Amino acid sequence: MVEFKDPQHLLKFTKFYQHAINEIDSGVHVIDEYGKTVIYNQKMMEIEAMHVEDVIHKKLRDVFIFFEDQESTLLQALYEGKTTKNKKQTYYNNKGQEITTINNTQPIIENGKIVGAIEIAKDITKLEKLIRETNPINSSTYYTFGSIVGESNAIKEVIEQAKRATRTSSSVLIVGETGTGKELFAQSIHHSSERSNKPFISQNCAAIPESLIEGLLFGTKKGAFTGATDRPGLFEQANYGTILLDEINSLSINLQAKLLRVIQEKSLRRVGDTKDTQVDVRIIATMNEDPYQAIKEGRLRTDLYYRLSVVSIHIPPLRQRKGDIPLLVNTFIKKFNRRFQMDVRKIDEEILRLFYQYDWPGNIRELEHVIEGAMNLMIDEERIDFSHLPSHFRNKTQLKEDIPEMFQLSERKSDYRPFTKPLKDQLEEFEEYYIQKVLKQHNNNVTQAAKQLGLSRQSLQYRIKKFQ
Ligand SMILES: Nc1ncnc2c1ncn2[C@@H]1O[C@H](COP(=O)(O)OP(=O)(O)OP(=O)(O)O)[C@@H](O)[C@H]1O
Ligand SMILES: [Mg+2]
Repeated sequence: MVEFKDPQHLLKFTKFYQHAINEIDSGVHVIDEYGKTVIYNQKMMEIEAMHVEDVIHKKLRDVFIFFEDQESTLLQALYEGKTTKNKKQTYYNNKGQEITTINNTQPIIENGKIVGAIEIAKDITKLEKLIRETNPINSSTYYTFGSIVGESNAIKEVIEQAKRATRTSSSVLIVGETGTGKELFAQSIHHSSERSNKPFISQNCAAIPESLIEGLLFGTKKGAFTGATDRPGLFEQANYGTILLDEINSLSINLQAKLLRVIQEKSLRRVGDTKDTQVDVRIIATMNEDPYQAIKEGRLRTDLYYRLSVVSIHIPPLRQRKGDIPLLVNTFIKKFNRRFQMDVRKIDEEILRLFYQYDWPGNIRELEHVIEGAMNLMIDEERIDFSHLPSHFRNKTQLKEDIPEMFQLSERKSDYRPFTKPLKDQLEEFEEYYIQKVLKQHNNNVTQAAKQLGLSRQSLQYRIKKFQ
């Protein structure tokens, strides 16, 4: 340890330390003996998509939610002296980005006493993505309209629109946030179109460096640059089929012009070639931001936008069609029951209510992963409960302000058939829910619960029997 006699030196040293910590390519999170955050570096902010001021000097428990048996590893280190090594975690941050980290957590001990705890998180998101995308088993999922789950009017309308697009070969632009099902829709359109027995090729434009993408899409001619061979690009490989260009707005403006030419003239020129090649490829492009915004900010050419958006499909985010949540949850439970040879039957009502409050920045993919993650933690249980939820659900900033419980209930139970129940049924539903809550609050002590409810013991007991 360095000793400081002069406070100025200490100040200077602390500043350097701060700079150094912010330069580290791992997330660093340190809490003091009171469970308050004292260090939260730049990389940790990026990983968790939190602002330092939301976390620093605050108690961990005030910022994140922890369910009973899912204590934070940091707090476990602080209170129990527990060290956690190489724990892999996948979760969604505030921006809906899927993040995978490897965490190491340990107590900070001075003179035999625990005075704090430190967590170091290595971000392996890119590595994970690369492994997943290059794994042929994962990339060969085959989707059709039958794979699209949803009963809300919002999604039904989009499905209708997409079905109409199967009759032509016009370009399609699909706009939607991450995880809303853009790939699902693109594949469904292709598989229901006349081109279904021809290739479907999908390429993420953001994943490949600018210098390589042109050759990859349009092909290369021998001698175009050192090492270049005669190689067809993805457009030629997709001939007579469909090409899905993901995140089209991340293509350079120069390449967008070349793409426009392929659409207009149905021909392309390989890099280094002097003659054109004819192609007949249907283009489906996707974007995860508002196209008008991208045009305004110079990231999308207006002419390309008009050419691409002959058919334009906007998939609404999950938070705008929460009525689909129960159906999606059931679909995913069934899917993972089959995959994991399990027999999970249902999900806690409380969790569904939490799901309704949550904004789902990672949309359907996030919901699917939550169910998959929960089922990975289950052994013989039939019901998913709080202890099976992942830790990112603890982030309180993602939950909305308290909505009156009464309102949550009606939103939950009758979202896609709003307010059709007779008043008596609705009131009974609420009565049951409220009694359950009060009983739980009093650890099922009937006398105490009855007192709080202003009922006689007998009358409460009668109701408990009635609602089982
Ligand atoms: N309506 C839906 N019904 C059932 N599953 C869905 C639905 N929408 C999305 N999914 C599932 O959610 C996951 C994400 O879907 P998809 O890959 O199509 O999203 P995306 O919009 O392309 O996301 P990204 O922008 O991140 O590429 C997939 O596993 C898909 O099966
Ligand atoms: Mg996609």
